[in-house]
Amino acid sequence: MKITTAWKLALKKEPRTTGEFDKLPEHVAIIMDGNGRWARKHKLSVSRGHRQGTETLREIIRHTDDLGIKALSLYAFSTENWKRSEEEVAALMQLILDFFASEIDELDEKNVRILILGDKSALPEKQRETLKEAERRTGKNTGLRLNIAINYGGRAELVKAAQEIAILVKNGTLRPEEITENTISDHLYTQGQPDVDLLIRTSGEQRLSNFLLYQNAYAEFVFPEVLWPDFTVHDYDLALDAFAHRERRFGKRL
Ligand code: FPP
Repeated sequence: MKITTAWKLALKKEPRTTGEFDKLPEHVAIIMDGNGRWARKHKLSVSRGHRQGTETLREIIRHTDDLGIKALSLYAFSTENWKRSEEEVAALMQLILDFFASEIDELDEKNVRILILGDKSALPEKQRETLKEAERRTGKNTGLRLNIAINYGGRAELVKAAQEIAILVKNGTLRPEEITENTISDHLYTQGQPDVDLLIRTSGEQRLSNFLLYQNAYAEFVFPEVLWPDFTVHDYDLALDAFAHRERRFGKRL
């Protein structure tokens, strides 16, 4: 029987290296879903689930960087997440502080450039300042673009872009007929970065949940069943391998 690359990957569990993939995405986006279910399964608090999810996050960022992927976007906190209990929101806010306190030196050393996607103005001051400082400190780095979506919504991002473009039209800088797809891209948080090539959502859910609506237009979707805290580098490699074997047509007939 023919052993496919996916089979070989399934058999060999060490982290892959760049050359072991037929093709790698330039931009990976991840919806880190399943922390709550993981916590319930282990009879732990939901906050503990998010904490475990943060451990996964560290490993996935490292591996993305090791593989030389250009951009990684992570959905950490949506505009809808404010509706969760006060306790859970507080736990997530604390995790944001803990994550940056423990990771910023290593990320900066590795030349990672951090960008926060979303409206920071609604965040508590400590979080806002920590995030701004991470962006400032790594702003000139030229390695992995690490985008962390916090208080982010895809529709709100498009509304923001429309408002900014409308101002340019109103003050005469831009004519309506000069507005192109690139004009819109240039007014998104991810301005200057490639579109998403691969979107991964863990836990078996198959929804976009308002994440990078414009940037995901031609993305390939992979939906592993595994809950985010259990998602390993090996699971990530399998998703990357699935991407490598997808035929992307971008609407054309090949
Ligand atoms: C979805 O799982 C996950 C979230 C809403 C938060 C994701 C956040 C982290 C992994 C860590 C915090 C981020 C940083 C940058 C430190 P869920 O709770 O909706 O899971 P469920 O659907 O099983 O309840």
